[in-house]
Amino acid sequence: MFKNNQLKSTIKLLSSKRFNTMSLKPLVANDVKITLREQSKLNKPIKNEDLVFGKYFTNHMLTVDWDAEHGWHTPEIKPYGNLSLDPSTCVFHYAFELFEGLKAYKSLKNEDDIIMFRPDKNMARMNQSAERICLPEFDSEELIKLIQKLIRLDADLIPKGKGYSLYIRPTMIGTSEGLGVHTPDKAKIFVICSPVGPYYKTGFKAVSLEATDYATRAWPGGVGNMKLGANYAPCIKPQLEAAGRGYQQNLWLFGPNKYITEVGTMNVFFAFKNGDKKELVTAPLDGTILEGVTRDSILALCRQNLDPNVWEVNERYLSINEVKERAAKGELIEAFGSGTAAVVSPIKNIGYNGEDINVPLQEGKQSGKLTEDVMKWIGDIQYGITEKPEWARVF
Ligand code: COI
Repeated sequence: MFKNNQLKSTIKLLSSKRFNTMSLKPLVANDVKITLREQSKLNKPIKNEDLVFGKYFTNHMLTVDWDAEHGWHTPEIKPYGNLSLDPSTCVFHYAFELFEGLKAYKSLKNEDDIIMFRPDKNMARMNQSAERICLPEFDSEELIKLIQKLIRLDADLIPKGKGYSLYIRPTMIGTSEGLGVHTPDKAKIFVICSPVGPYYKTGFKAVSLEATDYATRAWPGGVGNMKLGANYAPCIKPQLEAAGRGYQQNLWLFGPNKYITEVGTMNVFFAFKNGDKKELVTAPLDGTILEGVTRDSILALCRQNLDPNVWEVNERYLSINEVKERAAKGELIEAFGSGTAAVVSPIKNIGYNGEDINVPLQEGKQSGKLTEDVMKWIGDIQYGITEKPEWARVF
């Protein structure tokens, strides 16, 4: 049984969904304390051809603690290293964890420029995820400034060239100790950075998918639109099952209509033709779909660059049966996944109900034409070839 004061404090924590952030100290980038790694322990750049996604890290990391009494503490940039947490810390038991994935690129136009691609979108989503699992929110622009300081410090480790970048992983965890289930009164942001090349070891190659209708990634009223670590672990088993039947990834379906939602950990696009008209389709943001920054960028660039007399760009429900029927009629033109890590990932076939739906590729190539164009449009902005200051933050 609860003692009276224990009960009161539990009720207070459970009921005050958000803390009174007005009286708490905000996150301030200029307060940062920087401790450098010893010169003799510094990692050297890895050759581009030896990079493996998420395997190597830069020399420094950013950490910022928060507590419900004071707000954000002094941000620290320090040598990359272990975190030390009590085994009862709430992140380990109740999944108070959220993360982001974004990239910084060495400009191909001006050697000294580093470009971050739409970091404001990632920060906004990070704050939405934080709000959903009762972790503290923060000033997005201050975290962007801190991440830029972190990246500048290890700028020599950002690989150069198209397809190569620095993958940035901002993470927030609840750090309250004890096994009570309640709003965390302590939290930590940490940011680590990994020099990366192409996400798939095979490079830009079309993948085969198996449609998964026996497991569901997300559901209405759930948290499928949030970037929570808890959304990812349950996705591995269906991927392994697909792999066991010879497919490289799984395609997520939802509900009795078997609507296509996502592919693996990415958003997904399908292109169709109907006479001389064409349509690009992706699932609508109904709360079950991750609000991908790459997804949003692709929609915007397609609406801007494709001929509106030919193309319609739609966010609508699309079932696997529609894909199957239209593929049989020769109306399926191409399909691709989209995400920060791979940017776009072309699809070559989809196993469904024991049959394969073939997705066309260009003659002798590993993708459809639109997939290739989208990759170039986005890449040119990310590497500073096309100027788009509202998306590309040069620093
Ligand atoms: C992405 O496509 O950026 C992802 O979400 C994959 C990431 C979890 C490694």
